[in-house]
Amino acid sequence: MRVLTGLQPSGDLHIGNYFGAIKAMVDAQNTQDMFIFIANYHAMTSNPPNLRQNSLKAAAAFLSLGVKPDICTFWLQSDVKEVLELYWILSQITPMGLLERAHSYKDKLAKGLNATHGLFSYPVLMAADILLYSSELVPVGKDQVQHLEIARDLAVKFNEKFGDTFILPQAQINEEVAVVPGIDGEKMSKSYKNTIDIFASAKDLKKQISAIITDSSPLQAPKEWHSCNVYKISRLFLDESGQNNLQARYERGGEGHGHFKAYLNELILDYFSTARSEYERLLAKPGEIKEILEFGATKARKIAREKMQELYAKIGL
Ligand code: ADP
Ligand code: TRP
Repeated sequence: MRVLTGLQPSGDLHIGNYFGAIKAMVDAQNTQDMFIFIANYHAMTSNPPNLRQNSLKAAAAFLSLGVKPDICTFWLQSDVKEVLELYWILSQITPMGLLERAHSYKDKLAKGLNATHGLFSYPVLMAADILLYSSELVPVGKDQVQHLEIARDLAVKFNEKFGDTFILPQAQINEEVAVVPGIDGEKMSKSYKNTIDIFASAKDLKKQISAIITDSSPLQAPKEWHSCNVYKISRLFLDESGQNNLQARYERGGEGHGHFKAYLNELILDYFSTARSEYERLLAKPGEIKEILEFGATKARKIAREKMQELYAKIGL
């Protein structure tokens, strides 16, 4: 099954992103034909600073967390220009009303982004990403479901007008079975500024962990683990017996939240130790990252060009 994921190069990845999305994506490489790209054209719609550097950082992050460029196709969106050509072609069959109804566009305006054509036509470019590579399944968060529906609508319209051309993609809705809590107990999210970042420096990581909100029970007292934010994050890194041991430490008393935070710090450093050193290594060698991305773009481009040849004949280009 061909599964396609587009990842915006936006900000530092946190452990909520990892356990909520990245881990499943990395695991899926073993069983699915995974297409994974860094959506730098889409990122332009929010006018971010340092786009080039952030795209390289995002690529380094995904590679070090286990994206394997040999078994999947991993590239930078802007390295395969055919997607822009398909975007223009799809634009010809995109009703204004379809885009006017898009929630994400309205939400972004409400957040203060300028009403540009790029922002408005964002879903058409996303449809081009999906349809160009004949994607069958697209894992998305709930906020992206409407974009998937738009991609399907456009595929149907095109197929009706020009004959069977595009596969209709299915959304695989990421229900967030396990919402990872942030340092304040709310859902961990960049926008709430309550994250623990996978690639933070050791010093910043310690700072983020020490800011986790806990109750004020005295050191000697037995403690509640069910409701403890430190516990809820620690358990992600532990198997069942590790979780039982930690619960027993809470119930026994004699240790304060500082001890449990120090333990969480160790767990995180341990779990991500290979990823963290690989990330630093790659960032010091941007040439290597670019080579990997170019290798992926070559694979993606071949498929993109074949699809475009089929389209040229149908639409008379
Ligand atoms: P953020 O909320 O930090 O902006 P994104 O919206 O960029 O995160 O999310 C990227 C991916 O990570 C999505 O698939 C989302 O479902 C997942 N994700 C983000 N935060 C969490 C969380 N706290 N728990 C579980 N999954 C999460
Ligand atoms: N819009 C997606 C997001 O913000 C990123 C994206 C761009 C994407 N193109 C895609 C996701 C194609 C899946 C398929 O998360």
